[in-house]
This record gives sequence, C-alpha cells and structure tokens, in this order.
Amino acid sequence: MPVKTQAIVLAAGTSSRFNTSATKLSFTICGQEMIRYPLHLLQSLNLKTTVVVGYQQDVIQDIIEKYNYPVTCVEQKIQKGTGHALLCTKPYWSEETLLILNGDAPLITKEHITLLINRHRETEATVSFIASYNADPTIKGYGRVIDNGNTISIVEQRDFTGDPAKECRLNAGVYLIERSFLEETLPVLETHPSGEIFITDLILKASETGKHVEVVDVPFDSVRGINTLKELWVAERLVRSDIISSWMNEGVRFLAPESVIIDHNVTLSPDTVIGYGVQLRNGTKVGKGVTIDAFSVLDGAVIGDKATVHSHSVISHSLVHTAVQIGPYARVHRESTLHPESVVGNFVEISRTSLGTKSKAKHLSYLGQTKVGKEANIGAGAITCNYDGVSKHTTTIEDRAFIGSNTALIAPVTIGKEAIVAAGSTITESVPAEALAIARQRQTTKKHYAPHIRRKKQPAPLKATPEKRKELPPAMLKIKLATQTS
Ligand code: UD1
Ligand code: CA
Repeated sequence: MPVKTQAIVLAAGTSSRFNTSATKLSFTICGQEMIRYPLHLLQSLNLKTTVVVGYQQDVIQDIIEKYNYPVTCVEQKIQKGTGHALLCTKPYWSEETLLILNGDAPLITKEHITLLINRHRETEATVSFIASYNADPTIKGYGRVIDNGNTISIVEQRDFTGDPAKECRLNAGVYLIERSFLEETLPVLETHPSGEIFITDLILKASETGKHVEVVDVPFDSVRGINTLKELWVAERLVRSDIISSWMNEGVRFLAPESVIIDHNVTLSPDTVIGYGVQLRNGTKVGKGVTIDAFSVLDGAVIGDKATVHSHSVISHSLVHTAVQIGPYARVHRESTLHPESVVGNFVEISRTSLGTKSKAKHLSYLGQTKVGKEANIGAGAITCNYDGVSKHTTTIEDRAFIGSNTALIAPVTIGKEAIVAAGSTITESVPAEALAIARQRQTTKKHYAPHIRRKKQPAPLKATPEKRKELPPAMLKIKLATQTS
C-alpha cells in the first residue's frame, strides 16, 4: 500500500432513481448501511479519507459519527455531478495519489483496491480505474469504456450510441488518479448541458494528452452500483449468500439458505441448524448445537449451546442460556434472561424478565418485569400485571413456587419459595414461603339450575312436583307461579 495515497468517497448525490424519501446510502445491506461499505474498506486499508456529503448530509454524518469512522466530511452544496463533487475536496488534497470511490458501490473488495494500486504503480499510470465486462444489453446506469486504439474514454449511458453487446466494458466508479494531473485538469473540465461535471471525462483528457491510463478488470458482481431498489435487492442477495456460505464452512446447517435473512455481524457456531425463513439480525450470537426453527426472528439475541427455538418465535435483545426451550410462537424481549434449561412455551411473552434455571412458563403467559427463581412453575394463562396505568412494578417469584393457571399477580408482589398460588387467583398481597394462597370467589353450585335458565327462553313447564319445587331458586319459583296462575 503506497503511503502517499488518500481516499475520497462521493456521497452527496440525490438518490433520485431510488424514489424513496431517505438517501439510498442510508439503506442497509445485510444490516450495514450502504455508505459504511466503502468507509469500512478504506478504514481497513488505513487510508486518510474525505467524504463528500450534500443531499441529506445529516443522515450520512450521523452514520459516520455513530460508527466512529475517522473521516473528514466536505459539503457539495449543489449536486453538479461526480466531477464537481471531487472538485469540492480540492482544499483537502495532500497526498500524491487519490483513490476515489462512488459511495454506492458496496461490493468492491479490498483485493480489488490492492490490485488497482499495484497495477497503477507497475504501469506508472496517471489514471487507473476498475471496470468489468457485461454483455447484457439491458444493463443500465454504467458508463462504457471505449478503447479506439488511440484513446480510452468513458461514455455515459445517455450518450452511448454503439452496440451494447460489443462495447460492454463497464466503468465501476473506482479511480486512482495522480494529484498533479487532477490539479491541472479537473478545474477546467467542461460542464455538460445538464449542468454537471463528470469525473469520467478525466479519462479521455489523460489519454489524449499521452498519459498512461490503466484499466483493471474484475468480475461484474463486484462492481455493481446501486441506483435502484432492485439493484439493492440483487446486491443484498449476493452479500447474504457470501455470509451464509462462510457459516456453512464453519459447520452450520441451513435447511433452506435461500430463505434466510442474516446480518454481517451475526455469529453462529458448529452443529447449529437454521430452519426455513429464519431471520438473524443485529449482532445475534448463536452457540453450538442450537436449533432455530422456521420463521423465528432473532434480533440482538444471544443464544447458548443446545437451546431450541421452535418456529415463529421472536427473541430480541435478550440472553438465552444453555438448553433452553422456546416457542413455538413465543416472544422474549427487552433484555430478558432465560437461565439454563428453562422453558418458555407457546404464546408466552417474556419482557424485562429473568426466568431461573429449570423454571417453566409453558402456555399462554405474560411475565413482565419479573424475577423468577429456580424450578418455578408458571401455569397456563398466568400473568403479571406490572403496569398500573401510571408506573411499572416488579413481581418476584421465588424458587420452586407454583403459580396456578389463569392467575393474575398484581405487582409489586412477591411469591415466596415453594409457595403455591391456586388457579384463578388474583394476588394483590405477597405470599410467604411455603404458603398456599387462594384469592378467588368461593364457588356456588345450584343443582338442576341450568335447565331452568335454558327454559327461560321457552314457555315454562305448567307443573312442578313438590320435590323439584324445593330445589328451585326463589326467582325461578316466581316465574313458575306467574305462569301457573295465568
Ligand atoms: C457513475 C459513473 C459511471 C459508472 C457508474 C458506476 C459518472 C458521470 N458516471 O454513474 O460511469 O459506470 O457510476 O456505478 O461518474 N455524487 C455526488 N455528487 C453529485 C453526483 C453524484 O457526490 O453531484 C455521488 C453519488 O452520491 C454516488 C456517486 O457519486 O455515490 C455516483 O453517482 P451516480 O449518480 O450514482 O452515478 P452513476 O450514474 O451511477
Ligand atoms: Ca451509481
């Protein structure tokens, strides 16, 4: 790597072909914003970098700050083309050679840049740039490299009149240019009728003044520029399939890799099986021998070895320890922790909660802001009521407590060790260790009552035997008597 090289990233363009409200450079590809791709690459090459910003510059600068890229931003106030964007950085030119990258070419690799730099030095070129052959006549948005034997030039799509299948060498938008040449040529480049100055016009200028122009060809997938949402989709598929194949090499089984969504910063481990349509996002870390079934979404989750996430479960910003069972249809979120061998079953929501080792909440529960000890059992439909409409409160369920089905624990409340809460209770006061709490209305059973309720809707019977009459409730008797007298 020549030390006397500095980098410029062009990122001020208006993203007009995206037809979205946000700049295309803020769209993510496998969880990483598009602008971060060149910035990441240049950081890995340790090059001093200047970024040209303009359109939605706050958005771009926020990304730069958030991820701490050590770059300088320069404003291009009016978007007058790629040549003009480069010209805006003139006061910052300090090195002998400038590496210039379009901000919307995220698939260029470090190897390609190294190749460009090496070839530039070997051939003592004044201008070098990356290109690729693609004979697809429908390909849009690229300048074509025209070599007529005497001179090399780049002709933009709108000006190209030749045969696209024959003249199919496309410009990638990555250039290495000697500063001395730029200083004398760029300020005097002509402005096109559209009001723009094209960086690509530098190629012909160098070529026709006898300077050496070096073209470095690389595979087309690496030079894809992203001008439309469709191109973004294609690029993301390529990046994603690279990520997935590298995890396959590490011993991770993907049952349907074409359906999986995975971010760059996800970590997987051997003997893990990823099912159909799984999404793994945002720094998720998955241990060894884990099964993640169909359509589960893991977002900032940490999953311990041998855990099982059954289908359609969502785990976000939470820690799941070894051999935990989750789902199907479970939601674990807001920095919850599931300790080893705990079980969170179907239709259970766990929020800001810690579930102790071997504790179980297997069916239809909500545990919010709750601390559950070891080996506790949370019955079907049990819920913690942690919000009183004004503030939120904590529920504590100690080791081996048993919470019967369909109970409501109104926080703040503590259920002591090995206590039992009877099914259907509404608990408003703490329950001491080993106590039994029953908090529900006592049952009343009225024999033979049901048929009479049903008959209310039909004509009542004319006669009732004296024995049956005794069992009838007073209200029923009134109805009966009224019917008999009429
Ligand atoms: C450009 C090249 C084209 C090449 C293609 C590769 C020119 C004139 N054409 O076309 O030969 O094949 O890239 O993908 O350079 N930008 C600014 N300020 C501006 C205009 C653009 O900073 O005033 C930035 C954009 O944010 C973008 C980059 O420059 O990151 C390229 O601009 P874009 O409009 O996408 O150029 P293309 O039409 O793709
Ligand atoms: Ca482009």
